Amino acid sequence: MFELIKKIADVYGATGRESAVADTIEALLKDKVDSITRDAMGNLICEKRGTDPGGKRIMLSAHMDHIGFIVAAVEKEGFLRVAPVGGIRVAYSHTRHVCFANGVQGVIVQEPVADNEKPVMKHMFIDIGAADAEEALSMVQLGDIAVYAPDCFRLGEYRVAAPAMDDRIACALLISVMQQLGETKDTVYAVFSTQEEVGCRGAKTAAYGINPDVGIALDVTGNGDTPKTKLPSVKLGDGAAVKIMDNGSISSPEVVSALLAAGEKAGVKTQREVLPYGGTDAMAMQTTRSGVRVGTVSIPCRYVHSACEVIDLRDVDAAEKLLLAYLQ
Ligand code: CO
Ligand code: ZN
Repeated sequence: MFELIKKIADVYGATGRESAVADTIEALLKDKVDSITRDAMGNLICEKRGTDPGGKRIMLSAHMDHIGFIVAAVEKEGFLRVAPVGGIRVAYSHTRHVCFANGVQGVIVQEPVADNEKPVMKHMFIDIGAADAEEALSMVQLGDIAVYAPDCFRLGEYRVAAPAMDDRIACALLISVMQQLGETKDTVYAVFSTQEEVGCRGAKTAAYGINPDVGIALDVTGNGDTPKTKLPSVKLGDGAAVKIMDNGSISSPEVVSALLAAGEKAGVKTQREVLPYGGTDAMAMQTTRSGVRVGTVSIPCRYVHSACEVIDLRDVDAAEKLLLAYLQ
């Protein structure tokens, strides 16, 4: 699993610029599903038809996009001023290594602020090594998006850190599930969605097009197992988290029950998750058309939206077995 995670996490794919991630996933799944399409939003939709003509349509959604910094202005000294794309945290950004789609590398830096001033995005700039604006504009353009540079590494026996773990860990999980799925009664749509970090925009149109009976988002969640962090009461290594509620959706009770039962059937550990913030593609799926029953299977993750998002491989394994039991 680590090799697959690294392969998917290392690909450039800022929010709204997910096509290289879609290419990588398509190559891995093209022989495993009945059809693969891309829609106008850039969603990669992989369909595996069920054996029962009266079977359900189940949509699983994992987002490909990764939060970033969009170049909004270039200063005469060659520094780039940026705006956030998605939930960038200024406190996590200072002196981080970033990169652009074309391979240009940079360091994002916070300029000095007054003692009583709180650093915000306008205090940040990217140094790409350019001497002036002209040189900078020969390297990047206004509208190019930088992301935290790829850096996927192991921590201890079971843990892995990477900048794009949100949500490439779920992309890797969904790829692995589809590779092992085999025949099912229901038709399964594995959707690798776009623009989740700016409001689940890809999943919204994909769900409308697919018109599923059930929608399940696969995403990271927070953790309550580091100093002074108690919520959500989810721990790394304690199994797949089945979401009850977050700020974007209240999971359908029948979907929660079915997911927990699948976990039990598969013999894996699960934990119930109540997240007092955030949201997933479930919120877009739930409110499409006349409404869809939804749930979310989460991978507990430390330091979400930082350059070192940490997950535990045992939770990924639990989620994989749970999903296979649910779909089969
Ligand atoms: Co996110
Ligand atoms: Zn996410």
